[in-house]
Amino acid sequence: MTLKHAFIILIASFVFPAASEAGAAPDGNALNAKVSALLQQMTLEEKVGQLVQYSSSEEVTGPHSQSNVAAEIRAGRCGSMLNVVGADATRAMQDIAMKESRLKIPLLFGYDVIHGFRTIFPQNLGQSASWDLEAIESAERIAATEAASAGVHWTFAPMVDIARDPRWGRIAEGSGEDPFLGAAIARARVLGFQGGDLSRKDTVMACVKHYAAYGAAQAGRDYFTTDVPEITLRDVYLPPFRAAIEAGAGSLMPAFNDLNGVPCSANSFLLTQVLRKEWGFDGLVVSDWMAIQQLIAHGIAADEREACLKSMNAGMDMDMEGLVYLHELAGLVKNGQVSMTRLDAAVTAVLLAKARLGLLDDPYRYCDSALEARSQLMPASLAAARELARKSCVLLKNEKKILPLAKGLRIALVGPLADSKRGMLGSWTAQGKESEAITLRAALEERFPSAVTYAQGCAIQGDSRDGFAAAKKAARRADIVIAVLGERWDMTGEGSCRTDLDLPGNQQALLEMLHATGTPVVVVLMTGRPLTLEKALPFMDALLIAWYPGTKGGPAVVDVLTGAYNPSGKLTVSFPRSTGQIPIFYGHKATGRPQDDAKPREQFLSNYLDAPNTPEFPFGFGLSYTRFNILKPALSAAEMSMNGSIEVTATLANQGDRDGEEVVQLYVHDIAGSVTRPVRELKGFAKVYVRKHGSVPVSFTLRPADLAFTKADMSFDPEPGRFEVFLGNDSNAPKIGEFELK
Ligand code: NOJ
Repeated sequence: MTLKHAFIILIASFVFPAASEAGAAPDGNALNAKVSALLQQMTLEEKVGQLVQYSSSEEVTGPHSQSNVAAEIRAGRCGSMLNVVGADATRAMQDIAMKESRLKIPLLFGYDVIHGFRTIFPQNLGQSASWDLEAIESAERIAATEAASAGVHWTFAPMVDIARDPRWGRIAEGSGEDPFLGAAIARARVLGFQGGDLSRKDTVMACVKHYAAYGAAQAGRDYFTTDVPEITLRDVYLPPFRAAIEAGAGSLMPAFNDLNGVPCSANSFLLTQVLRKEWGFDGLVVSDWMAIQQLIAHGIAADEREACLKSMNAGMDMDMEGLVYLHELAGLVKNGQVSMTRLDAAVTAVLLAKARLGLLDDPYRYCDSALEARSQLMPASLAAARELARKSCVLLKNEKKILPLAKGLRIALVGPLADSKRGMLGSWTAQGKESEAITLRAALEERFPSAVTYAQGCAIQGDSRDGFAAAKKAARRADIVIAVLGERWDMTGEGSCRTDLDLPGNQQALLEMLHATGTPVVVVLMTGRPLTLEKALPFMDALLIAWYPGTKGGPAVVDVLTGAYNPSGKLTVSFPRSTGQIPIFYGHKATGRPQDDAKPREQFLSNYLDAPNTPEFPFGFGLSYTRFNILKPALSAAEMSMNGSIEVTATLANQGDRDGEEVVQLYVHDIAGSVTRPVRELKGFAKVYVRKHGSVPVSFTLRPADLAFTKADMSFDPEPGRFEVFLGNDSNAPKIGEFELK
């Protein structure tokens, strides 16, 4: 898919070089030679030691296994640490490995840098709503620059799990429901983190996770079983992983879940067949937290020895915060159940990662405290965080054009998230500091010094109405209410799943009370997942989704509310009307008895008695303060040969009175395949800036490879036949033509 003529705004690229500008990576042969020389000197126990990763006791995301890490490092029984952060802290620990262990192999320091390190960018699902690959790549470049200067070599990101069930809390960490967009964002994130050359001092090794189909957890419950047919696995869940690996991701993390009867941590189909053999991955595979041990609880291993055997032989290289490899692996190698070849391959993957990062030449390369101090929260980083936060906001409703805010209004600022610094940051905040986050209240009061009256109204959860009276009074005296509602930051994320996705606590009642005052109500929704807003929408005049917008979230949201920035975000996940519709996503299959959504419900067609099939807000949807029109859409030909292509062209006209950006989206539908095909699939998008009353040409190239899919025999090819083409600004884009692939 080629995109032309799109005018894309680049952020801070002059400060943080993109991957394409990076210097050449070091010579692979020289690194391999270094690694095999080292391997030859290692004892069996030292080899096993390289496959063991411990967490510092400061930040843990599960039960903690090791209390005397220093002794383990000294004895050569630890190859990597997670959650040790800071140039000085990593230097002190590296010292133990370099000065006190026999082979002096440097440690690898890993950390969860998920949406920023110190400068916190919007939560990942929010970032994806920007549809702005350059801005996302820049954010990761900045995160890598900050993290690497603090001694971090390796981030456990990007998380690329396709998620179609908003009950699942980790939907917040990914890029939504679509494999094409998910793959594009996965690529951008890897390029941003790794910058083209891992030995550079401002890059970190990426770890694409959680492989695979973690987002397909039954009933939206974290860590739960997944059953995903291989065609769906390959066409929906795997593309972002493959894209990340093709972009050079140095490592990968298998998921916690059981996939089709074999937990991912022991799944040789995933870890060996697809990853190594089909995709040619030569990087490092690290388990998730104690995931090897958890094979026992999954019921696939009777004890730690069997868990070790199954995981190792499936292709898992490193054991995160579990002691299974440490305790069992040497014995299994000695009795021949794990071959020395397999062990050496795993150790080579670890050593090669260290070599690529330049650690075998200079173990202290990333331990420079002066660099650390000057790399954090740089003005350009904060500006980029604000810019990405603005681009992430999605305007879903704007009755009577109540937004942008008119000048001179008296504002009642209400709601449990209006003044929550912690709430701005979301989950996985790395070294981000609450004290550095700017709330909407602070930003609004700064912009309109004497026009804002603040009243919290109610808490996020709980049923107290003690704050209602003050909120009502403020609303009555104001010209407009801005209600900042939503979920607490930790109501999404790992282990934070919900069955009820309405506004939590008393917020619906607060909203209804505010609406009843007669003062127009603008809702700013802070959430890490789609909420079910059917009951709340009638009480809102405008709705802006701000997600968890990060360190500069307050000013960014104020930019959008005031029109200093014209909203351009688009949903990357469908918002259901009710939880009963879940899973709901635009790229579903047809049925033999489809219900036409525009027509009344018919018995014996595929529908519900009590709800439409359509979501509240579809994938790709988001409003602007200006009016965009896609004019003169055309296909360059009615036929495409198997080695040809078709151009899809149009003119994007801005017919309103404000400059702005629009995301033009191209979808196709394969009318009849050898297996059933989605009703439509995103195949291209362009985020385009157009001045008011101006227009910009957009064009996309479709090639046969863009139309390929997995067949019943697992081959992956395009099939001849007819295709419908849709071009528009959400997933309900109108049909603009058809072509035949011959
Ligand atoms: C568990 C999470 O599933 C994973 O995403 C994370 O990287 C590790 N813990 C390490 O913190």
